[in-house]
Amino acid sequence: MKITVIGTGYLGAVHAACMAELGHHVLGVDSRPDRIARLAWGEAPFYEPGLAELLTRGISAGRLSFGGSLAEAAAFGDVHFICVGTPQLPGSLAADTGHVEGVIEGLAPHLTRATLVVGKSTVPVGTASGLARRLAELAPAATAAELAWNPEFLREGYAVRDTLEPDRLVAGVTSEAADAVLRQVYAPLIEAGTPYIRTDLGTAELAKVSANAFLATKISFINAMADVCDAAGADVVTLAEVLGYDARIGHKGMAAGLGFGGGCLPKDLRALLARSEELGVGDSLRFLHEVDVVNTRRREAVVELARELAGGSLASVSVAALGAAFKPETDDVRDSPALAVATALHEAGARVRVHDPKAGDNAIQAAPALEHVPDVESAVEGADIVLHLTEWRHYQEIDPAWLGAIVRRPVLIDARNALPHARWREAGWTVRCLGTPGAGGGAAPVRHATQGAESQSMLSQQHQPGG
Ligand code: UDX
Repeated sequence: MKITVIGTGYLGAVHAACMAELGHHVLGVDSRPDRIARLAWGEAPFYEPGLAELLTRGISAGRLSFGGSLAEAAAFGDVHFICVGTPQLPGSLAADTGHVEGVIEGLAPHLTRATLVVGKSTVPVGTASGLARRLAELAPAATAAELAWNPEFLREGYAVRDTLEPDRLVAGVTSEAADAVLRQVYAPLIEAGTPYIRTDLGTAELAKVSANAFLATKISFINAMADVCDAAGADVVTLAEVLGYDARIGHKGMAAGLGFGGGCLPKDLRALLARSEELGVGDSLRFLHEVDVVNTRRREAVVELARELAGGSLASVSVAALGAAFKPETDDVRDSPALAVATALHEAGARVRVHDPKAGDNAIQAAPALEHVPDVESAVEGADIVLHLTEWRHYQEIDPAWLGAIVRRPVLIDARNALPHARWREAGWTVRCLGTPGAGGGAAPVRHATQGAESQSMLSQQHQPGG
């Protein structure tokens, strides 16, 4: 099949490469010429394991190319996937669907033959039916230009695998013809046994945001239990292990620590809240606001723990921040808990040096006021406190005795509960975590009554456009 992918961020670039891998002929289009130029050379414009290999393979086979206008895309493809970003609107909880609308406005006037436009971007429920009407209005092919919604569920860091071996495929369609086209696009995956669920447009739109809201709720639940563990002297890591053996609960998404960030979970949670208010069912989802608050409090709690370990003031304290990406195996720093903590420490007067194995360049752009260093050694030299903020494998392999000889004080905050604490303590480190007093900390992080709206806004970034 001849397919175009419009928008080549974390979602679109991976989708384009994977569609070529499935044997389709694919053209990727983007308004950013720099991104297109790199992709056309077979270079991944961001860190995503496995993507570069797939790009090279697709391009060499002559099935994958990048570049061109929406008019050229319309001439090339029979199926057009929309993969542009829907960031959080500034000053609002709602998602900005402007880029998706822009694609429909730009593409539709060039659609002169029967075509399927497939939205993959995450949009508020009800958006797709409006876009379908607009598409039919603007397209010379009129109602032969159809819209479907086919949300993605890929995780950054595992995006290639999640696209080629998804848990499920969701096809929001309004006709047999659209259903048949999507079944053809995904034929190899369906044949391999991937569940394919045909649904209406609204259910497909909701599938994505509600999955992310559920995952966020699960993470905030275990993080709230970490607070209870701190207060009671219990251990949240063991508690999560015990809970996870119940098949209805499971072990995934139960890692207590610094909480969730990234380009999806926080903004999807807020966009669902905003949409539920518009639909008059805000009361039903009000708990999602609390999920967001619990998550932001993780960042505050780590900053307060650092302040406590610094003796009450962070002024002139030297801090090493290990990690800037919102999670390991990505260079994405959008709404990164790690970068939010590093920035808050800097704003509280600390000297903060940030290291990340992959996200260094993005971190410099997102937080230019911080000191960014190329290796762990430069980050920790002379440090009073080392903070482990993103659980890269690289950090798990650090020799704590070696590190102990470089720092000024061997004090570690493992905000991700992921380092081998016994080894670190044996090497002479004071280790503190959230929710695991057994790791050498004991007392709960001090919560100051002054923590309020100001620190909340500093620590809870808005989603940045892109992706
Ligand atoms: C998420 C969804 O998983 C994916 O299905 C959807 O398509 C896009 O949003 P992603 O943003 O890549 O994917 O990250 P994910 O792996 O879900 O992690 C989200 C955040 O939660 C990260 O900041 C991570 O560190 C945090 N997290 C995850 C925890 O704090 N604890 C956990 O147990 C799991």
